[in-house]
Amino acid sequence: MNKSLRKAVIAGNWKMNKTPAETKPFIEELKPLVADADCDVVICVPFVDLQAALEATEGSNIKVGAENCYWEKSGAFSGEVSADMLASMGVPYVVIGHSERRAYFGETDETVNKRVRGAIDSGLTVILCVGEVLEQREQGITEEIVGMQTKVALGGVSKEELDKVIIAYEPVWAIGTGKTATPDQAQEVNHYIRTVIADLYDEEAAQAITIQYGGSMNDKNADELVSKEDVDGGLIGGASLVAEKFSAIVKAASNG
Ligand code: PGA
Repeated sequence: MNKSLRKAVIAGNWKMNKTPAETKPFIEELKPLVADADCDVVICVPFVDLQAALEATEGSNIKVGAENCYWEKSGAFSGEVSADMLASMGVPYVVIGHSERRAYFGETDETVNKRVRGAIDSGLTVILCVGEVLEQREQGITEEIVGMQTKVALGGVSKEELDKVIIAYEPVWAIGTGKTATPDQAQEVNHYIRTVIADLYDEEAAQAITIQYGGSMNDKNADELVSKEDVDGGLIGGASLVAEKFSAIVKAASNG
């Protein structure tokens, strides 16, 4: 195992928060705080905030992402936004398969796979979310669930295309609950996901892929989480809405 092969990625996931008018001042506050980061810094924002985020981050080390995209390029799909549309705006990242999409908006492993495929075809880098719910953890089937989600989502994705994929392990019971996975729990599942990648592709691919942890990661617990061998940064919800907290996590990942 060689963590130094991988660059940590700290990605904020704003979810359904902040208006376009709130986006610019927030990014202006964030920019100097993360300017010397030794990890990749991404903020994933609502569709309507993307233009403001792209303009405000221009020339900085902060990259912008969307929180979802549709797999068809265009057509009669009211309310959806295609990966091509995002790419044409200059958006480089997109979150796919977040547990909130799966739980509230009917996403399945199959639709997640289609979205992953569509996003890669449009040249976007995908942050693919996987994770078990509490009952599954209690039943001892976390690895089966996370392994299945990972394998189905990556169907039809070649080894070469994997450099466009980041995986975020997000135990659903830890999201927005203040109940973080312990560093050992995060390490255990992240390591397992790496073995799934080794099975699907090979050891080189497994060593190269960035696997984040997400779920109540904050300025207090980030240090310990990102210091784990297989935890290559994080996907941050609540704490990404506060510049000081988010930048503290970026600092932790820069040291980790
Ligand atoms: P949280 O959200 O940090 O607020 O728990 C994480 C996520 O949903 O990506």
